[in-house]
Amino acid sequence: MGQKESRRASSLERSAAEKPHTHPSPKETPNTKVDVTGIDEHSLPSTSTLTDTQVPVMEKAIDKTTPLLVIAIDIGSYASGYAWLWKWEYEKTPLAVQTNPNWQHGSRVLQKTLTALLLKPDKTIAAFGYVAIEKLCTLEQNHEDHEDWYFFQGFKMTLHRKKECVDFNQTIEDYKGRHLPASFVFGCVIKYFKDHAVRHFKVNNVDYLDAETKWVVTIPAIWTDSAKSIMREAARQANIRDSNLTIALEPECAAIYCQKLPRGQFLVSANNSDKKYAFEPGSTVMVVDMGGGTVDITTVKVNDDLSLKHVHKSGGGAWGGMRVNDEVLNMIMGVFGHEVFDIFQVKNKMDFIDLQMDVETQKRQVGPHNEQEHFRVQVSQTLVSLFKKIKGEKVQEVLQASELSFTNSRLYIPIKKVLDLFNNVIKDICEFITDILEQMQLIHEVTAVVVVGGFANSDYVTNAIREDLASRPIPVIRPDDAELSILKGAVLFGHNEAIVTSRIMPRTYGVACTMEYDKKRHNKDLTFRDGGKVWANTVFRKHVTIGQSVKCGEWIVDKDYYPADANQTIATIYMFSSDKTDPNHTTDEGCMFIGQFDVDFPPCDEEKKVNRAVSVSMRFGGTEIEVKATNTTTGKTYFKYLKM
Ligand SMILES: Nc1ncnc2c1ncn2[C@@H]1O[C@H](COP(=O)(O)OP(=O)(O)OP(=O)(O)O)[C@@H](O)[C@H]1O
Ligand SMILES: [Mg+2]
Repeated sequence: MGQKESRRASSLERSAAEKPHTHPSPKETPNTKVDVTGIDEHSLPSTSTLTDTQVPVMEKAIDKTTPLLVIAIDIGSYASGYAWLWKWEYEKTPLAVQTNPNWQHGSRVLQKTLTALLLKPDKTIAAFGYVAIEKLCTLEQNHEDHEDWYFFQGFKMTLHRKKECVDFNQTIEDYKGRHLPASFVFGCVIKYFKDHAVRHFKVNNVDYLDAETKWVVTIPAIWTDSAKSIMREAARQANIRDSNLTIALEPECAAIYCQKLPRGQFLVSANNSDKKYAFEPGSTVMVVDMGGGTVDITTVKVNDDLSLKHVHKSGGGAWGGMRVNDEVLNMIMGVFGHEVFDIFQVKNKMDFIDLQMDVETQKRQVGPHNEQEHFRVQVSQTLVSLFKKIKGEKVQEVLQASELSFTNSRLYIPIKKVLDLFNNVIKDICEFITDILEQMQLIHEVTAVVVVGGFANSDYVTNAIREDLASRPIPVIRPDDAELSILKGAVLFGHNEAIVTSRIMPRTYGVACTMEYDKKRHNKDLTFRDGGKVWANTVFRKHVTIGQSVKCGEWIVDKDYYPADANQTIATIYMFSSDKTDPNHTTDEGCMFIGQFDVDFPPCDEEKKVNRAVSVSMRFGGTEIEVKATNTTTGKTYFKYLKM
């Protein structure tokens, strides 16, 4: 039964029998559609609204609990890939998750490829991964016209950087400053992997059934709701139906994967006490996903049945491994100067890419024991010659008074300088981990910190985090396959979404409505008089609160809303979220419009004086929000995945 709040509620909550007077702000349209909340639609951020399904969304879905095949796609800031597992393998050997082993870079064979997308002028996919870079460089070398080709790299960070400003129309800039919609760019990557996977099954004569396949696309747990919905739209553009798609949270996937790994990898002891299995029921584990772009932290508690519940709102920041590369490149740019370096980047793209690759290779050699004295980068002859031509000096000469040196086409940077760059990033990561532990009073609860993601492969980074937490004392574990644990865990999650039983709400969610004015809460400027009472407009009626633990799959908090007008035949439900615990108005700072949908009302039956209400509840079953609005008169129910 719906949960009722005080009768102070809204004009929406007045019964039709009260014959409300004209609402000052709603706009009436010929079909008597009334904006029940009094929101000016033009002031809302534009959103491409989903068509509302009149049948429960879940009824249309494939049997999401037992898909025949799960294919997961992880689009990383640095590297991307896909992996899969059949149902019967999941049941017997869950660790048999397969990744495409064919991503090649030079002589190296990799299980993820570089996140680099090349599009032809007609915006069809030309190449992805290392191949995209090679293709772009070949076009340049052959002086083929490629002015109208698009090239995107490292674009995932756009959605992180823009944070709260990301809306559905977010665009991503390519290397020439041209913009395409983010959903389209991500959609191309998903399509590329989807086609690659389907081709793989065909070539290997494997029966691939689209309808029986669940696609899992991973996203950082710290992404905003809008960024999440961009990913859902991207999948749709890659011809993946909503019903076959699950969005998974990256650190959560890593936790699920680690739980399946042999126990021996997770035996921990604090204070030299007896060794304990980190994922024992009752244990709390903090998973730190250190990728190329972001560090994303989720803390889970293991339930008695080995399912997982979140104990802390996921958090993190832009402290991924690529920050070190960027800073090393800045240092190199400092040597050659902007003027030279800018020309070099444009005119000698292939050499610039080789330089980036060499920085990456050298970065991976940096160890915890300072084995090398220098960080050595191979510099192309074209850059050296360009420098001489523009500056009139040799690189060696300019560096004479500096700690850096240049011999045999190699730039030698004292390792200490590069370690400082690592240390800056590590400091941010450690401070954040400590903040969470202290704020949440988890210090004595956390059994282990598990570090995953490519950046965790760095012994220097993992050791530094280990040392930082040693005084607490909290053990730090790095599983085998740290870099692939997100991707492989996403496949396991797809086979058993029920493994996560509850999540912590990242924001406060509610519905905009009109309520009787409360001077302690409401802004006087947003009030109006009607029916002898003072009403407040654009009130944020809270359904769930930031930080609240919400059980997955359960419809929670039914709240009733009433039409403002007796003649109203359609109610528009406007959903908002906020980063505040208790927002008063939907116009308050920190509030975001996240979606809307219409609910039909049959004409009012004056005789019976029926109390025509819409009962709204939300479900946080998946990693997104579903909203259900039931017309309490007709019983007709409207479902919607919130399009934010
Ligand atoms: N041995 C290593 N030493 C240092 N850094 C490493 C090592 N191995 C991988 N990395 C770094 O890890 C990062 C890639 O990790 P990963 O593939 O997990 O990131 P991603 O998934 O692309 O990024 P994100 O999850 O932030 O979107 C790169 O910055 C890479 O330089
Ligand atoms: Mg990642």
